[in-house]
Amino acid sequence: MPATIIVGLQWGDEGKGKTTDLLAEQVAMVVRYQGGDNAGHTVVSGDEVLKLHLVPSGILYSHIVSVIGPGVVVNPTTLIAELDMLASRGIDTARLRVSASAHLVLPFHVAIDRAREARLAGDGAAVGTTGRGVGPAYADRASRIGLRMGDLLEPTAVTARIGRLVDERNAELARLGSDERWSAADIGEAMTAWGARLRPHIADTTALVQGALRRGDHVLLEGAQGTLLDLDHGTYPYVTSSSPVAGGACTGGGIGPLQVDEVLGVMKAYATRVGAGPFPTELTDGIGESIAERGKEYGTTTGRRRRVGWFDAVPLRYAVAVNSISSIMLNKLDILSGIESLELCVAYEIDGRRIADWPSSAEVLARARPIYESFEGWLEPIHGVRTLADLPETARRYVTGLEELAGVPIVLVSVGPERTQTIERAWRPMRHRPAIPA
Ligand code: IMP
Repeated sequence: MPATIIVGLQWGDEGKGKTTDLLAEQVAMVVRYQGGDNAGHTVVSGDEVLKLHLVPSGILYSHIVSVIGPGVVVNPTTLIAELDMLASRGIDTARLRVSASAHLVLPFHVAIDRAREARLAGDGAAVGTTGRGVGPAYADRASRIGLRMGDLLEPTAVTARIGRLVDERNAELARLGSDERWSAADIGEAMTAWGARLRPHIADTTALVQGALRRGDHVLLEGAQGTLLDLDHGTYPYVTSSSPVAGGACTGGGIGPLQVDEVLGVMKAYATRVGAGPFPTELTDGIGESIAERGKEYGTTTGRRRRVGWFDAVPLRYAVAVNSISSIMLNKLDILSGIESLELCVAYEIDGRRIADWPSSAEVLARARPIYESFEGWLEPIHGVRTLADLPETARRYVTGLEELAGVPIVLVSVGPERTQTIERAWRPMRHRPAIPA
């Protein structure tokens, strides 16, 4: 009954795609449990680079059933475009299953997201969303007026609900000063077309996931974004509208807490953040610039340059606790090569006091000044290193320092984008190995 959760410990973009890819061979099912097409990961298939926003990267493996769970919000246009793109590259998408309970991101959600951000930007208060309509779609879900994947199968049965939703959202667009409007007839027609195309993929995914666990198959639950963007645990209001934390994998994936046997946290050797919000260790100097360039820190979804900073261990301790992390994968250690001295934030000074606990308020965090511990850097490239013992002594000390602050073992260290550029430390990946069908 093994289920493993992969969760980002920072502000997203920790390299969870590589982690999933590394573990994929051992699993029978990969489940996306929250977020929407605001997420993005780049996957390499042979010589080709694919950018996926909704479809789990497990789709590249013929033995894996890829699942979009009930906690995800799905823009059907994006999903169909991704399926077409994958098919055009010869990748079989027949094994993708999308929960009938997953809510739809409709065109007016995108328009509202952008109109609201434009209005907030006027007050200097924009969240810096990806503009994909994710927040407004989750708001309709919580308000119990949203439409779901299952509704695509019989849109005429929900005509009245479509009408009420379109009326409300058109009124909201008018309030926000937008000229965009939709008609219930157009949305109904679009839903019929989406349903015709997506019908083979729509399923009760919770039954599928539970069936897989009953058979003893290994299920990987793949989080998007990261703990510090979590609606409950992040720097509200500069957060996404879902629950990237491990608890979100239970509600959004359709499993119970006792069915989880491992929670693998993923973090980078430094910090990045996209969009607005407090970021105490942000680097606005040449060091930040060079880390961003070497680390290719540009958003997969929006192309925006990510903000870069030193590693912050204050939210790390919090993230390890709220996710009950059992082990950690540390990514992009190689990007720090060539920096003479590294800073690691171990506490904050807030209003003249030393604070070691993550503040729950963005306003308080905005006043935090980082207290750093310095680590001697290493100048040589480390892409070719495959064992911890072969890392430069200073790099080893940095990894050990991070591990001590996290309080859980760092079991995998990535020193390059390739699957082989990974250092495995005393770790038995996946305590239960399923028999993978040939
Ligand atoms: P939204 O999820 O588009 O509503 O954006 C809310 C916040 O989450 C913004 O700061 C975005 O930049 C951030 N965000 C959303 N998805 C990602 C992601 O995949 N990586 C990093 N940041 C993200």
